[in-house]
Amino acid sequence: MTTTSQPALVQALQWTGNSLKVLDQRKLPETITYDVYTDATGVTEAIATMRVRGAPAIGIAASYGVVLSAQQHFQAGTSDWRERIAADIQQLAASRPTAVNLFWALDLMRQALAEAIDDPRPALQALAIKIHHDDLAANQRMGELGADLLAGAKGVMTHCNAGALATGGYGTALGVIRSAWKRGLKTVYAGETRPWLQGARLTVWELAQEGIASTLVADSAAAWLMRSGAIDWIVVGADRIAVNGDTANKIGTYSLAVLAKQHGVKMMVVAPTSTIDWTIANGDDIEIEQREARELLHASYNHPGSLVSAWNPVFDVTPVALIDAIVTERGVVVNPAVQGVGSFRT
Ligand code: MRU
Repeated sequence: MTTTSQPALVQALQWTGNSLKVLDQRKLPETITYDVYTDATGVTEAIATMRVRGAPAIGIAASYGVVLSAQQHFQAGTSDWRERIAADIQQLAASRPTAVNLFWALDLMRQALAEAIDDPRPALQALAIKIHHDDLAANQRMGELGADLLAGAKGVMTHCNAGALATGGYGTALGVIRSAWKRGLKTVYAGETRPWLQGARLTVWELAQEGIASTLVADSAAAWLMRSGAIDWIVVGADRIAVNGDTANKIGTYSLAVLAKQHGVKMMVVAPTSTIDWTIANGDDIEIEQREARELLHASYNHPGSLVSAWNPVFDVTPVALIDAIVTERGVVVNPAVQGVGSFRT
């Protein structure tokens, strides 16, 4: 891995043809640095360490990781390149557990590998680029559909970062906010999103890059904000949606949904259909990533023998009964508790 500096661009991933440039989101907003990866092991590490994060962006990065694997391992006349690429796919799949876009993208890449009679590189590269471009197009479509629902809204609040940084570009929840802003939305709140501060470091920065004003609130201010009457909608992305509509997203989303119900605020989930896990009936089967205690714990408690530990689940599941609308590129389900998301299946 090498490192280069670039001018401000809200683009999490750049494919060069023989490397993947990953914007190191751990360093935002202070520093804009792209790390350059040329193998799948590097891309796996970039995902696991959250240089790249956000469900769709993780899936896209992993797809390019498979292309890099093929570029590294394919050699005409040898026989073990398929096994080597398959092993790299396994490694990429183990990088993070909750975002289903990762497994969705790797399944597509695995299938393309299986179908390749000889040199798999052209087909794999074409597919990774398609996954990337399709995600951007899906975001733009969802932006318009979600903005329709926000017509007349006084204000909205979002959580985590579900923007261009987390996707192929434009964003899911932030795509809706971008589109609604163009149509006249004036008030956007972002929760800071502890412990990793995706809201405070990424969302408000990304919005400001586009000239969209936002107001940051501590996560613990959400109830009081809703009580003030300033917002009509919570708009969030998703890491995995079950067939009944239960939705895993950044830890704290469930709290917001409970608070929203109490205050008559509506809850919108925005995600491409690649975020729907067709194999699970409800959210009970979603694996919730637990990250290391040290990401949460003050350094003075982080030593062997310490009496203070930390419980650090980084996602939670919002029951569909608390969700008012799910927006995908294939359409919108209002009140998804009635019918889940089955109508989006092709
Ligand atoms: O841990 P992260 O930063 O990868 O979590 C990201 C989220 O929870 C996002 O809301 C979700 O992936 C949707 S991104 C369009």
